[in-house]
Amino acid sequence: MTDRIAVVGAGQMGNGIAHVFAQSGFDVVMIDVSQDALDKGRATVAKNIERQVKKGTIPPEEQVKILSRIDLSMDLETAREASLIVEAASEDSGLKYRIFTDLDRIVNADAILATNTSSISITEIGRRTSRPDKVIGMHFMNPVPVMKLVEIIRGLATSDKTMKYVTEIAQRLGKTPVEVNDYPGFVSNRVLMPMINEAIYCVMEGVGEPEAIDQVMTLGMNHPMGPLALADLIGLDTCLAILEVLRDGLGDPKYRPCPLLKKYVAAGWLGRKSGRGFYTYSK
Ligand SMILES: NC(=O)c1ccc[n+]([C@@H]2O[C@H](COP(=O)([O-])OP(=O)(O)OC[C@H]3O[C@@H](n4cnc5c(N)ncnc54)[C@H](O)[C@@H]3O)[C@@H](O)[C@H]2O)c1
Repeated sequence: MTDRIAVVGAGQMGNGIAHVFAQSGFDVVMIDVSQDALDKGRATVAKNIERQVKKGTIPPEEQVKILSRIDLSMDLETAREASLIVEAASEDSGLKYRIFTDLDRIVNADAILATNTSSISITEIGRRTSRPDKVIGMHFMNPVPVMKLVEIIRGLATSDKTMKYVTEIAQRLGKTPVEVNDYPGFVSNRVLMPMINEAIYCVMEGVGEPEAIDQVMTLGMNHPMGPLALADLIGLDTCLAILEVLRDGLGDPKYRPCPLLKKYVAAGWLGRKSGRGFYTYSK
C-alpha cells in the first residue's frame, strides 16, 4: 500500500489531521467543498508548524517539507489513490453517509475508510458502503498536533485487520490509540458532553458567570480548561450535534441539549470559530 492519505474536510480537525500525517512523512490530499476552508486550513497548518519550530519540537528545515506534502482539492475524486481516507467533515449524519457512499465508489477496494466523527454510529456509516469491514472510527482530539489520544472505534462489522492497521497508523503518528466499541458518543463524548451541557445549564439558570463556572472546574477539579472554554474550542454547533446523537441514540432525556446552547447555535454564536460563544475572541 502507498503512503497516500486523503483527509475529507479542512476545518479545525481536518487541517490538524493533515498536519500530523504530513509531519510523519505521509503524502496527504486535503479535500473540502469550500476553497476558503482549504486556504484557511493550509494557513493554520503553516502557523502551527511555525509554532513547533519556535518551540524546537521540529527542525526548521522540516517546515517547508511538511507543507509541501499537503495537496489541496475541491474534488472528492482526488482521494482515488489513497490507502487510508480520514473523513473530518461537519458532524451531520446525512452528510457523512453521502461522503462514505461516494468514497466507496471512488477509492480502491482495499482502501480503509475512517471517520473522525465525535458521536455518529460507525456501524451506520459502514452500512452505506460495500466494505463495512474496512470502515472504522479514528477519533482525534482537538488540537490534533498536541493531543496524544486517538479513540479507535470498532463498528459492528469492522475487521480485526482494519483495527490493527489503524492502530499501527495512529502509533506511527506518535499518538496513543485506545480501542472502544460503537455506541453513541463512544467514550470521550459520552462522558464529556453531559458535563459541558450541565455547565451551560448553570449559565442559563444564573448559577454562575461563565468565568466562575470554568474557574470552579479548573481550580477545583484540576481540569486544564473549563467546560465552557472547551465547548467554545470544540464548536457549539458540534456540541449540539453530539448531544442530539446521544439523546436520540440512547433515548435518555438526561442528554437533552440545553436550550441556551440551541439559542447560541441559532444565533451563529459557535465559539472560537465564529468569534463568539461563551466568550468573545478577536479574529
Ligand atoms: N471540534 C472538535 O473539537 C472535534 C474533536 C473531535 C472530532 N470532531 C469531529 O470532526 C469533524 C469535523 O469537525 P470540525 O470541528 O473540524 O468542524 P469544522 O466546522 O471546523 O469543519 C468542517 C469542514 O467540513 C467541510 N465540509 C462540509 N461538507 C463537506 C463535504 N461534503 N466534503 C468535504 N468537506 C466538507 C466544511 O466546509 C468545513 O471546512 C466532525 O465530525 C466533528 O464532530 C471535532
